[in-house]
Amino acid sequence: MTITFFISLFFLRVLCKQAQDNYRTPHTSVQPFPPYNAEIASIYRYRQQQSVNLGSWFVSEQWMVPSIFQCAAAPQNSEIDIATGGCDPQGILERHWDTFITRQDFFNLSSLGINTVRLPIGYWSLGPAFLQNTPFNDVASVYKNAWPQVVRAINMAAEAGIGVLVDVHGAVGSQNGQPHSGISDGKTNLFSQNSCCVSNVVGVQLLNEPENCEELTDFCNACTVPDFPLYMHDGFDFDRFITYISAQSPDFIVQDHHSYFVYTPKDNAEPARNHTDDVQTTVAAQLASSNVSLPHNLIIGEWSCALTPDSLKDEMDPQQARRAFCMAQEDVYSQTTPGNSFWSYKKEDCDPDWCFLNAVGNSLPSEFFPYGSPVSPAQKILISSHKPQSLISPSISGLSRYHHRSQTIAQHRSSNMSSETRSYQEGYKEGSVTAQKFAAHGDKLGFMGQYMLTGVEGRSMSLNGEVEGDPYRQGFMQGLRDMEREISILLRLNI
Ligand SMILES: *[C@@H]1O[C@H](CO)[C@@H](O)[C@H](O)[C@H]1NC(C)=O
Ligand SMILES: *[C@@H]1O[C@H](CO)[C@@H](O)[C@H](O)[C@H]1NC(C)=O
Ligand SMILES: *[C@@H]1O[C@H](CO)[C@@H](O)[C@H](O)[C@H]1NC(C)=O
Ligand SMILES: *[C@@H]1O[C@H](CO)[C@@H](O)[C@H](O)[C@H]1NC(C)=O
Repeated sequence: MTITFFISLFFLRVLCKQAQDNYRTPHTSVQPFPPYNAEIASIYRYRQQQSVNLGSWFVSEQWMVPSIFQCAAAPQNSEIDIATGGCDPQGILERHWDTFITRQDFFNLSSLGINTVRLPIGYWSLGPAFLQNTPFNDVASVYKNAWPQVVRAINMAAEAGIGVLVDVHGAVGSQNGQPHSGISDGKTNLFSQNSCCVSNVVGVQLLNEPENCEELTDFCNACTVPDFPLYMHDGFDFDRFITYISAQSPDFIVQDHHSYFVYTPKDNAEPARNHTDDVQTTVAAQLASSNVSLPHNLIIGEWSCALTPDSLKDEMDPQQARRAFCMAQEDVYSQTTPGNSFWSYKKEDCDPDWCFLNAVGNSLPSEFFPYGSPVSPAQKILISSHKPQSLISPSISGLSRYHHRSQTIAQHRSSNMSSETRSYQEGYKEGSVTAQKFAAHGDKLGFMGQYMLTGVEGRSMSLNGEVEGDPYRQGFMQGLRDMEREISILLRLNI
């Protein structure tokens, strides 16, 4: 199938200049975003992400929210079927946007240690002005109050300290012909766009699960905005994207990989415990080993606890089997990648496979804080004012492990250190300061390789690309680890 790509920066403009009136209605005003704060934005964009998807809020899928499909047009599958259906589609959708997820949901998520949400929106969410000559052309007015709701969602997340990955889930004409891209007629063609200047927007994802094709990587090239994270689904071609992302460095491009175990005959034939085993071995190794390529900007943007009935049929205790499978995923993804996002937060039939609200505290941990528990305001002050032990007495062990064994500690300390040693120490110091800065916000650094490239203010450096032989990087990692350990101890002493 031939796919035509139309590239536009209009989403960037929409977010940055949302006060423009052409897509505003007289009845609903668009909230302003708080003023941009570069320091907050940096924390949100680089930290370790514990995320859930807010699926079927702005991109409706029948299997998740059947109640709003009751009057939808055939085949009652996706967003457009509601818009073209009966019973006041505008009223149905506006009520849904108002009530499906509320301010309290964001505060609840934050109280569990969830610090990011992935927010699927469709191009229809941008409002009627963007729907001319699209399949939504004739029902554009249904969406006249859609964009203010998206802005409101982003601002509610900000109030709760939550970052938002805006996922343009349905691209114009649909990017893969599946119902979740808003179109039920199976046609594929493309159109997409970008963003940047809202502190708690951690990135924009251009396309969700596009068909894997040659044009995909060209498409990313054309869309790059410096310093602003752009997320890109890998079209299920994991290795090709690893290489691609490395080649884009130092641009902040993130590979989004989705991890499901229910869609192939092979998945169906495997018992639950084999899947758990695979997650802990093959999958863990694949994700971890990808860190030999810099900068390791890889998230698992969708995953769930779902297993097929066949996978569970021979398990003595299916609930326990699902729990082991789900916990293994949570553990592996959070250990080996800078972010993972469960699909999905909420669903009308809130089952243990797909619904975070059901799984949390059952098949999933009951909280997700990087330091094990919430960091109180008093502890944040304590962390900020902490005098790092690791810097007072630099980690000689790290240094000597890095350096050739023949060199003695005395040499490391001499005033004419080799430039490699100096690099190591510079990295060590920055790693240490960075861990402290993120901890003072209750977070840990996630996108470490990218942070070394573009996150440290006033320094534009290129890493030499050689992971093992790069002294700055080795120092940074050691300094970060030492400080994170120090802070864990500090927090345990001061709870
Ligand atoms: C938030 O959490 C509280 C306490 O667990 C619960 O009672 C309430 O229903 C939750 N609210 C929402 C909107 O999920
Ligand atoms: C599941 O794992 C068991 C034990 O490792 C193995 O014998 C069996 O062949 C596996 N089954 C499938 C379908 O992969
Ligand atoms: C890569 O991952 C492995 C396993 O998780 C870890 O031991 C190693 O330190 C990582 N290397 C880098 C450069 O991040
Ligand atoms: C380092 O300093 C010592 C004496 O201070 C000198 O003998 C040595 O040659 C110097 N090494 C280098 C690499 O400059």
